[in-house]
Amino acid sequence: MGEMNPVKGMRDYLGEDMRLLRRIEETFLGVASLYGYEEIETPILESVELFRRGAGEGTDIVRKEMYELTDKGGRPLALRPELTAGIMRAIMTGKLHSLPDMPLRLSYFGPAFRYERPQLGRLREFHQFGVEAVGADSPALDAETIALLMTGFRLLGFQGLRILVNSLGDKESRDSYREALRDYYRPHLGEMCEDCQERFRLNPLRMLDCKVEGDKALAKGAPSLQDYLGEKSRARFEETLKILDGLGIPYEIDPGLVRGLDYYSETVFEVHLLSPSGKDYGALGGGGHYGGLLKELGGPDLPGVGFAIGAERVLALMKELGLGEEEAGAIEVAILPVGEDSLPYAQEVSYLVRGMGFSAETPLRAGKLSAQFRRAERKGARIALLLGEEEKEGRKVRLKDLRSEEQEDVPLSELEERLDRIFEEEEEHGHED
Ligand code: HAM
Repeated sequence: MGEMNPVKGMRDYLGEDMRLLRRIEETFLGVASLYGYEEIETPILESVELFRRGAGEGTDIVRKEMYELTDKGGRPLALRPELTAGIMRAIMTGKLHSLPDMPLRLSYFGPAFRYERPQLGRLREFHQFGVEAVGADSPALDAETIALLMTGFRLLGFQGLRILVNSLGDKESRDSYREALRDYYRPHLGEMCEDCQERFRLNPLRMLDCKVEGDKALAKGAPSLQDYLGEKSRARFEETLKILDGLGIPYEIDPGLVRGLDYYSETVFEVHLLSPSGKDYGALGGGGHYGGLLKELGGPDLPGVGFAIGAERVLALMKELGLGEEEAGAIEVAILPVGEDSLPYAQEVSYLVRGMGFSAETPLRAGKLSAQFRRAERKGARIALLLGEEEKEGRKVRLKDLRSEEQEDVPLSELEERLDRIFEEEEEHGHED
């Protein structure tokens, strides 16, 4: 058999990257729970129909980037390109909208799949953390999700993020804007890319997002959505900005920000950060308000707001910014058998130590003590337990504090208490000494 590679645009996680991915997941889920969000997990496979109606027929994500397959029962399925549509489906399935306390506040972390050209910051399998708040229509809720996003990035150590915001207005505002865009683009349509010809028909808002050079230049001269916002939408947007001002969250209004999914209305936002080496990984996250998504999918007429961040882009930036230095697979207690005869006792003690809640490796060989100490140091162990004939006979351990170099004999019956005390003190004093 030849060399086996992962599928193009997909990757393995191990070592530092795995630890960072987990840290991003845990930090953001933890922050979401500080804001009162409950975690939800939905299937990776859903019906193709869900995404067509959810993300929108005219989006690149649905037209070009979905991994579609047919199962053995002939059902057309897709690997989810994003998680919001599946969560709306889960709300309907579980009738969560009839719960007494609205809004529902849900958070999630998991893989998503898009058949894009793999490049810097762009994978075919990537991970998203996100939140959805459903069942209340309030600028305060829009601002809350932006605040949550900021808290998460702050706790990971980020500074200087750029928050771009825009308002897409309500349905009426967008309908009249679409007509204005068609009027603007119609005379140029012949020179534009094939995709834009289709976007013109399906949703001309998408044309503003085109990456083709000539089309990009045209987009610059296009009418601005801001001029088509109805009075209500304008007031709502201003209210959201006022709340952000009050929280001291800096933002930039970007009238060209339209987002890549069709379900948005009113406030939308994205978060960006240029890397120190000048690399542009693309948006770290994005989201916004969606008025008609649940209804479009056949559910109740309830609005929502949410966002998702791309964990791989966050991970790459953390490494560049030096926020990524994590201890390697550290263990707390090193088990050091003195001579091969002590191996069975050493195995027993390592089993007991883990039952006390401390990490330890099972020794497989005795080997030289000096080599065992070096390995303990590499693994970051704080405590070494030396186990020889005498310890075995006396059902005790010789405990060495690898920081203070002090040694003492501790009976097995007192070991848990002793380790608890040492590691509690370590927590109180932190790791600075
Ligand atoms: P999105 O902007 O399509 O929104 O994706 C959110 C984030 O996922 C992006 O900002 C980016 O960081 C990351 N991302 C997207 N595609 C890739 C890729 N190919 N490789 C690596 N990272 C990627 C959504 O998905 C919406 N569901 C967000 C949302 C939730 N809106 C309301 N609620």
